[in-house]
Amino acid sequence: MELEDTDPVRAGRRRRVLITGAAGQLGRALQEAFAGDDVLALGHADWDVAQPAPAGLASPDLVLHAAGWTDVDGAEADPQGAAAVNVGGSAHVAALGAPLVAFSSDYVFDGRKRTPYLESDAPNPLSAYGRSKLNGEAAAGSRAWIVRTSWLFGETGNNFVRTMLRLGAERDEVAVVDDQRGCPTYVGHLASAVAQLVSDSAQFGVWHLAAGGECTWADLAEAIFEDAGVACRVRRIGSDELARPALRPAYSVLRSERLGAPELPHWRDGLRACLARVAG
Ligand SMILES: NC(=O)c1ccc[n+]([C@@H]2O[C@H](COP(=O)([O-])OP(=O)(O)OC[C@H]3O[C@@H](n4cnc5c(N)ncnc54)[C@H](OP(=O)(O)O)[C@@H]3O)[C@@H](O)[C@H]2O)c1
Repeated sequence: MELEDTDPVRAGRRRRVLITGAAGQLGRALQEAFAGDDVLALGHADWDVAQPAPAGLASPDLVLHAAGWTDVDGAEADPQGAAAVNVGGSAHVAALGAPLVAFSSDYVFDGRKRTPYLESDAPNPLSAYGRSKLNGEAAAGSRAWIVRTSWLFGETGNNFVRTMLRLGAERDEVAVVDDQRGCPTYVGHLASAVAQLVSDSAQFGVWHLAAGGECTWADLAEAIFEDAGVACRVRRIGSDELARPALRPAYSVLRSERLGAPELPHWRDGLRACLARVAG
């Protein structure tokens, strides 16, 4: 019996890439960035990652695990539900046995630092969501690139940029928090950086991949209105005024200290790239 060569290049075939959470904003961007591969894009209905993989799934060469419980406030009311998806999901995806990119979050940190968080900094999540992401990192196993990223936005899905564009068209003023500082990251730029990380055969382990620069949510809202030509004022408020169920870190700027880490463009460039596609 002749066994199939598992190295796609040696075997003269395209790399088989499985994407979970393929209908999410990051999942869609990954489909574009890996369009040259043989991509199997699975949405929530195709594989609920809180369950083991569906029977008969062909073994991939690479898994991009973009499915996740992303409702940060909802996780406070249902931490087991969040863990089933974010921890159980990582374990089920790792069980496929292929090299894996697992996405984690700046919310694994408590935000007490005032200089960028590096891979060697100790996590200390403030929320049930942050804990589920941290435990999900461990569940991804030893053949995983754990990509910590932050404040994602894209031209599809539920995200801050799209919410501000909607509110800005309806109102003269929006109240936005000004006491959380991070790196708003465009999913298209993140997906390209992930493609680079994988093609460089970077070492497995934790990688911080977030946009260049830093700002608060209020700064981001003002930039959105300015770049989109929307006449809406931003009223800067404190997080305490919103009284949301989950605590968020006051400072969660991510930078990489690892040799060869892909560098992402500045968040303002990401915003322009996103708005160009929203308008188009
Ligand atoms: N958004 C951010 O700011 C941010 C920041 C840092 C890290 N991350 C991480 O990046 C990853 C992608 O996030 P995103 O922004 O692309 O989120 P998203 O747009 O909400 O996409 C997540 C996708 O996962 C799917 N999903 C949820 N539960 C699932 C389950 N049990 N089984 C299979 N699929 C499931 C969702 O489907 P349904 O909509 O049908 O439930 C959705 O299509 C997540 O791991 C997230 O934690 C996000």
